[in-house]
Amino acid sequence: MLREIGIDSHVRDRMHLQSLPGVVDRLLQHCHDIGAPTLTNIRRTSDSVLFDFDGRLEQLLPLRMFSTLSVVLDESEHARIDGFGDALAELEQSTKGGAISALSGPPAYRVDRIEGRGPFIESVSRKFGWKNDPKAWDVNIVEHGRFLLAEVGAMHRSRRYAKLHRIPASVNPVVGSLLVQLAKPEADDTVYDPFCGSGTLLTEVAAIGRGARLLGTDISLKALEVARLNLKAVDTPHLLAQARAEALPLPAHSIDRIISNMPFGKRVGSHQVNSHLYPQFLAELARVLRSKGRAVLLTEDKRLFQQAVQETSGVRVIKEVQVTSGGLHPTAYIIEHTQKSRRMDRRRKRLGRG
Ligand SMILES: C[S@@+](CC[C@H](N)C(=O)[O-])C[C@H]1O[C@@H](n2cnc3c(N)ncnc32)[C@H](O)[C@@H]1O
Repeated sequence: MLREIGIDSHVRDRMHLQSLPGVVDRLLQHCHDIGAPTLTNIRRTSDSVLFDFDGRLEQLLPLRMFSTLSVVLDESEHARIDGFGDALAELEQSTKGGAISALSGPPAYRVDRIEGRGPFIESVSRKFGWKNDPKAWDVNIVEHGRFLLAEVGAMHRSRRYAKLHRIPASVNPVVGSLLVQLAKPEADDTVYDPFCGSGTLLTEVAAIGRGARLLGTDISLKALEVARLNLKAVDTPHLLAQARAEALPLPAHSIDRIISNMPFGKRVGSHQVNSHLYPQFLAELARVLRSKGRAVLLTEDKRLFQQAVQETSGVRVIKEVQVTSGGLHPTAYIIEHTQKSRRMDRRRKRLGRG
């Protein structure tokens, strides 16, 4: 049986949050926003953030852009070669007032394939009396670069938040959090995902308390069924419907935020299909997005996408953020109306045609 964690427990520990390249900059910023005295000695690697934590675990819940929380057992490989003394001492500290002490009982644990694993397992079992259970662990001891870490299963993203049903093309939820953050949705916005799949991005908008209306469309009825399951527990008014992104069933200037991960043309669709889909969809986006609206679109079919934006009247890319996830390196493009398009919109409103 997996242990629960008391997220209202006050703990002190040296922690490592596993994120993704490209996402980690925003996570770092959010950690600095919390700052001292809860988070001190904040540092980053290319895909993670580390800090000394002194607070209630629930204070970490707003930091949505990490998958795994670990206790740092060791930061230098040399120390490990000389035995695991430091790592055992850190584990012990964590059982006495650190993250591991917040678990509902003695954890089951596993140790990944690291050098000296056999004797280390013996030491942990003897010192703490924990059960070594590689299949149902609460604490997973792994090497990550130069770090030796004790992952706390109960603080994994999939256990911190509501369970998400997935489809094969579902976006990594950590990337999903980034896309939503980049879109900066407000509480009273209408937020739309025209390639909604299982609805990951819409559930994320609701989870951070933004968006007054959520709309999701997709060409696939199967994907929409999964999205319905995911949005069942969401209180924000929402509507899911089948539609092709080339012909959106929405009035002009009706959407504040469009957030989507598009068919990349690799695992979903093809480059050839995208060469028709992208320009037609972007023309629709320019039509339905409000003058001061913002869109965030993730794709790996980058050259085609950039060319399609350039050829779409009234919109432009204002920022690009590349991420790495699942062996792919897609880019999130932030899109807004051009100044000219905004001026024309103001004129249209003055003339009473808005
Ligand atoms: C990358 S997936 C989106 C995954 C979604 N964000 C999630 O987390 O589950 C792309 C989606 O676009 C849909 N799609 C493909 N072509 C489409 C089209 N022409 N119009 C609308 N949806 C389309 C697919 O059915 C798929 O669900």
